[in-house]
Amino acid sequence: MHIESGAVLRPYNTFGLPAVAHTLVRITSDADVRSVVDHPTLGIAPKFVLGGGSNIILTRDMPQVVLKVEVMGLRLVEARADAWIVEAGAGESWHGLVMWTLAQGYPGLENLALIPGTVGASPVQNIGAYGVELQDRFESLDVVDLCTGLTSTLNTERCTFGYRDSVFKRALAGRVVITRVRLRLPRPWRPVLGYLELERKLAELQASDAHAQPSAQQIAHWVIAIRGAKLPDPACIGNAGSFFKNPVVTPEQCRDIIGRDPEIVHYPMPDGSVKLAAGWMIDACGWKGKTVGQAGVYDRHSLVLVNRGEAIGSEVMTLAGAIQESVYGRFGIRLETEPVIV
Ligand code: EPU
Repeated sequence: MHIESGAVLRPYNTFGLPAVAHTLVRITSDADVRSVVDHPTLGIAPKFVLGGGSNIILTRDMPQVVLKVEVMGLRLVEARADAWIVEAGAGESWHGLVMWTLAQGYPGLENLALIPGTVGASPVQNIGAYGVELQDRFESLDVVDLCTGLTSTLNTERCTFGYRDSVFKRALAGRVVITRVRLRLPRPWRPVLGYLELERKLAELQASDAHAQPSAQQIAHWVIAIRGAKLPDPACIGNAGSFFKNPVVTPEQCRDIIGRDPEIVHYPMPDGSVKLAAGWMIDACGWKGKTVGQAGVYDRHSLVLVNRGEAIGSEVMTLAGAIQESVYGRFGIRLETEPVIV
């Protein structure tokens, strides 16, 4: 167990926000979590679990004990007739896992390529992109309880996944450390190409050969190209991905909005509700490319707030609040933030 005092957190959050952790402990195994739980002072102190810091907005220094999860390892657990089961340490890079599975010949995660962050953070917000969510490929995960130090395995039901949501944002927030995640990659592999931008790529591929079918690697490259064209790379421009969730409304609410804004981008959901494109609404309110202090709205995608250089958390939240107000004023919809605000 490695303990640091006064740890600078700027390198550990993709938005690049300045903050200091009073105490930071690097967790490389379940045993490290147990050592924290059994420690005379750390054991009773409040704790905060930090993964890749890709979905977090730091607005202040952290008095809690920050547990930085660095559990590594990638392995095939089982090759079943109906699926490959793979396991990854929570500290592994998510994109690294996607590329490793593809290189090993276990397809299924290609639509989720290039999502920033760690494997351990992926179930917390039930990451999703281009028609696939983590829960569609989820088998189980291991957690260590921060009160008892005991390891247990949770299945899909126990994780209560929702749209960018799970039990780890709710009842289990701050109570467990996720140490390993297992994914189920169905056999035979079936590509998921229903998303408009992937349909376009498929049409391009089939323009020369009507029967051509993309491989999983090909789809991963398409997804990487699509994301790269409109989402900022956190290594170059600080950001936390989508800053707001796409709001889900009733068909009546949607009809009402369409009556006033016929162009609004919306998607009917299987349960009859309708998802509205928050990026479109923010765009419609004129926010694209705007800046407040050192925080800004990305000029190629209005759902993404970015660090123009030296932003602090409160500036980001001021900008977010102003966006929420103008979207509420025009559409009567209150946008919910997607990253964890600390
Ligand atoms: N749009 C605009 N202006 C903008 C941005 C978007 O008009 O500035 C409209 C466009 O019509 C576009 C539509 O909104 O077609 C939807 O945009 P996009 O396809 O980029 O998807 P999104 O709904 O904004 C969601 C996820 C992303 C994920 C993409 C692709 C959420 C909160 N975000 O974004 O996830 O990559 O779909 O599946 O659900 C993330 O969570 O951090 C993230 C990047």
